[in-house]
Parts: sequence; C-alpha cells; structure tokens
Amino acid sequence: MSYNILQERLDAAIVTAHDAGNYILLQETSNIRVSAKGLNDSVSDTDIAVEKLIFNNLQKSFPGDRFLGEEQGERGSGNGGRWIIDPIDGTDNYIRSIPNFTISIAYEDSSGNLSLGVVYNPVQKELFSAVKGCGAFINGRTINVSGITDPSSAVSIIAPPRKSYERTSDYFRLMEDIFLNTRDVRRFGSAALELCYVACGRVEAYYEMGLKYYDIAAGMVVLKEAGGRYSSFSHSENLIENGNILATNGYLHDWYSEKIHDNMGV
Ligand code: 2AM
Ligand code: CA
Repeated sequence: MSYNILQERLDAAIVTAHDAGNYILLQETSNIRVSAKGLNDSVSDTDIAVEKLIFNNLQKSFPGDRFLGEEQGERGSGNGGRWIIDPIDGTDNYIRSIPNFTISIAYEDSSGNLSLGVVYNPVQKELFSAVKGCGAFINGRTINVSGITDPSSAVSIIAPPRKSYERTSDYFRLMEDIFLNTRDVRRFGSAALELCYVACGRVEAYYEMGLKYYDIAAGMVVLKEAGGRYSSFSHSENLIENGNILATNGYLHDWYSEKIHDNMGV
C-alpha cells in the first residue's frame, strides 16, 4: 500500500483521536451513565458517543473504508481497508476518574495487514502513533523498546484473568514466579496503553488474557514499530481469537514465554 494512502489516514486518525479526547474531557464525570455489557464488562454513554464521533470523522474522509468498533460492531461495505476502533480502552478507569484510558484507532489495509496505529491518553496528553515500516512515535518523537536483557532488571505489567476465573491459581503462580525473578510489577488497566508502555521502554513486558482485537490492534502496530515483539501465549493459540497476548521488548520474549509455559501449561 502506498505511503500516501497510509500517511493521509495517519493524519486523520491523529486529528480524530484528539477530537475524541477533547470530547471525553468535556464530559462531567459525575454524570456518566454506565451499563453492564457482560461479565466484568461496562459501557458508558461516552464510549458510545465517542465511537460515533470517530466513525463520522473517518467515514466522511474515507467513504470506501470499513469499520470495526467495540460498541457498533462492523460497519461499511466498501472494498477499502478497515478501521479497528476502541473509543475508550480502559472504560473501568474512565468511570472511576483514574487517568489511564485511551482512544485506540488502528487501520488494516485492503489485504487485512495491520498498517497503522494511534493510541491517545487524553488526560496525560500522550499520543502514540506508528505506520508500518516507518517507526513509532510519542507526540511526534521517536520511541524504542528498552534494551534490558536481564530479567532481574525487568518491570512487567500483569493483569489478572478477569474473563477466565478457572485459570486464577495458575495465573497467580505465574505472577509469583515473575515477581520473584524480576524487579517489580505494574498494572494500568488499558491494554492499548500498556502495549505502548512496552513500546516506549517504560516497562519490559506485558501479558493479559482474553482481550479483544480492538483493545490491542493499534498498540500492536506501535509496539512492533518500536522494535518490540508480541505473540499469543503459545504457538497453538491464535492471538486474535483468544486474545491472550504476551508483549515484550523482544530480548526477554523467550524468557517470559517459558514462564507462561511452565506455570500455565500452554
Ligand atoms: P475496555 O476498557 O475497552 O473494555 C483491562 O484489563 C483491559 O481489558 C482493557 O483494555 C479493557 O478494555 C479490557 N477489557 C475489559 N473488559 C473486557 C472484556 N469483557 N473482554 C475483553 N477485554 C476487556
Ligand atoms: Ca472500550
């Protein structure tokens, strides 16, 4: 796909992410209406309004493109590429005024290859972006994964298995093993943001189970372009189908992968 086609879409995605962020910040948090969508899954009126804003912006500029959004599902029937949108990644944080939530916008070209990603934290005003083959950026500055190769110096982002309670004991055994063999652990609550934190070298690794494609698509592009690596928990699992992701700075990927294998039996 030509650079101009992607550059045009990157520019539009960045403007749209800023518009969406401004909209979110204007909402009065005490008035947010929340409903339950499923097990441990909430949606607010803001999520729905923001997805509409993003869809309207991008659809106007690229009427031949298709869309997959967390709240509105599949839209559009053109034969262009497809936008993958999570209007608010980290809704539980947003609802509680915890400032770790993001707008996540990715684009797949017409052959289905993930080609660009934009992740924006409107509270901290940090915008991560990447186009396939062109590097990754935070607010326009180049970012790279960390160069740490020794697990004992690594900080990992770990999230409990909210969708797979039957794996709780395996998972906490894995967490104990990681905790005892690395420097420290963290958890931020937005998968898109967490992938970008690996991408910009703030942490060395992140893993979580049961994520959806729209949670991770944009962050995956940013991470890869920053020199990082992502995979499913094991070769036999399909990342997009089960959403069990391991993301690292690359150097430590095999080490974390082995820990997952040893403790989770995958
Ligand atoms: P969300 O806020 O868009 O729902 C937090 O651990 C991460 O898991 C966030 O990226 C969050 O995205 C995602 N998440 C929350 N509930 C989820 C669910 N029911 N299925 C998949 N991912 C979920
Ligand atoms: Ca969401």
